[in-house]
Amino acid sequence: MGHNHIKAVIPAAGLGTRFLPATKAMPKEMLPVVDKPAIQYVAEEASAAGINDILIILGRNKTNISNHFDSVPELESNLSDRGDLERLRRVQAASDLADIHFVRQGEPRGLGHAVLRARGHVGDATFAVLLGDDLIDERDPLLTTMLAENERTGLTVVALMEVDPDHIHMYGAAAVEPTDNPEVVKVTGLVEKPSKEDAPSNYAVIGRYVLTPDVFGILEHTEPGRGGEIQLTDALQELATTAGVHGVIFRGRRYDTGDRVDYIKAIVQLAVDRDDIGPELRPWLQEFAATL
Ligand code: UTP
Repeated sequence: MGHNHIKAVIPAAGLGTRFLPATKAMPKEMLPVVDKPAIQYVAEEASAAGINDILIILGRNKTNISNHFDSVPELESNLSDRGDLERLRRVQAASDLADIHFVRQGEPRGLGHAVLRARGHVGDATFAVLLGDDLIDERDPLLTTMLAENERTGLTVVALMEVDPDHIHMYGAAAVEPTDNPEVVKVTGLVEKPSKEDAPSNYAVIGRYVLTPDVFGILEHTEPGRGGEIQLTDALQELATTAGVHGVIFRGRRYDTGDRVDYIKAIVQLAVDRDDIGPELRPWLQEFAATL
């Protein structure tokens, strides 16, 4: 099923504080995961779900990201002259993915503020938001299920993942009620980064959203919340108690490349499964693990 009427928004304007100094002159979304920047996996996921219009929200160091999604004639003709067609194909993949557009978020005033910057491009339509540092394994589809749930109900849909209660303070947490479908819950409330004691559940909101356009009107009057930032979670909380929000429960593989340890795990997990480097990496990794 194609979703070519839906636009995707990828916010990539955060400060990436947890990854300094790597993110001093480079957005964290450009950190390589094996041999592709994280944000390219995310753009490929949107494209695989049938989305062909992607808006990237840029912060400081914006040229890094926009250059990556542009064609590079000198590099491409060099690869072509050398007959390195496989690399040429891989270089061109990023610029051939979708129609890619950019908008600036002047100051990193929070994810909610970044999403509001998409209003002019998205207009009065339902759209998808994919966080540029949150990777969902392509073998475990999530966005397609969320788009289908939105199509069925017309509601905003968030992605939820059960996490260890000791980790819920790093996420938005959802209060939920069951629906007839065991994979889908009704979200009755949301709290950004609650303590273990205050968390309504251990369902964490992860970086995929299908949002109805009424979120823009809410974000316009959403006051800065936790950390002094305009939180998307606060706007979603308002939607949950008015129009309604559904949650799709994700049980697949997810990698948070904004966190240093998860970033290393992501590289190892994706690399061992690759046909080109897995066979060399796996035996080394086993030997190395035995020395620990
Ligand atoms: P995070 O809170 O993970 O990003 O935001 P951060 O602030 O860059 O990370 P640290 O904590 O300082 O290391 C989640 C997503 O929202 C985007 C980020 O780029 C990331 O994809 N974001 C966040 C924005 O685009 N603008 C903002 O003002 C804040």
